[in-house]
Amino acid sequence: MKKVLIAYTSRTGTTEKMANYLAEGIRMSGNETQVVKTSLLKEKDLSGFDGYLFGCPTYHKDMTGGMKQFLFLVEKANLTGKLGGAFGSHTHSGEAAPMVFDTMQYVFKMDVLDLGPLNLTEMVMETDEGMKACHQYAKGLTEKF
Ligand SMILES: Cc1cc2nc3c(=O)[nH]c(=O)nc-3n(C[C@H](O)[C@H](O)[C@H](O)COP(=O)(O)O)c2cc1C
Repeated sequence: MKKVLIAYTSRTGTTEKMANYLAEGIRMSGNETQVVKTSLLKEKDLSGFDGYLFGCPTYHKDMTGGMKQFLFLVEKANLTGKLGGAFGSHTHSGEAAPMVFDTMQYVFKMDVLDLGPLNLTEMVMETDEGMKACHQYAKGLTEKF
């Protein structure tokens, strides 16, 4: 059984909902996961996982301040070669999840998912399609173990 850390920021709960559906998907495939707000994590909490999913909504075409701070913490933890993916909710432009994904790939040199970031609109997240997309993304991650 593998262990996945799902760390996210969310202002109004949609990215948090994605985090919880992703966790369901990880568990459905028989793996373990911990879902945590980035603000609650310390550097030492980042070790001991086989996979990492980082989630951030888009505000003002950017990541949240909380995610920026968290990524500096991740830099210290050295996740080189670890399996990773990113996700986030948005309404129209959706810059944050791809930015987080790029940082995981190019700065932290993580082994990121071929699926790219899971970047869903708030509207999709109000339907079953949103839940299914999260389950599918989680499955894609566990299939790489
Ligand atoms: C002030 C403000 C700025 C926003 N800026 C963007 C934006 O630049 N691009 C975008 O796609 N969505 C933008 N959104 C929409 C949010 O990304 C969307 O509501 C998202 O689902 C929020 O996720 P959360 O519930 O996890 O905080 C903005 C929302 C607010 C309130």
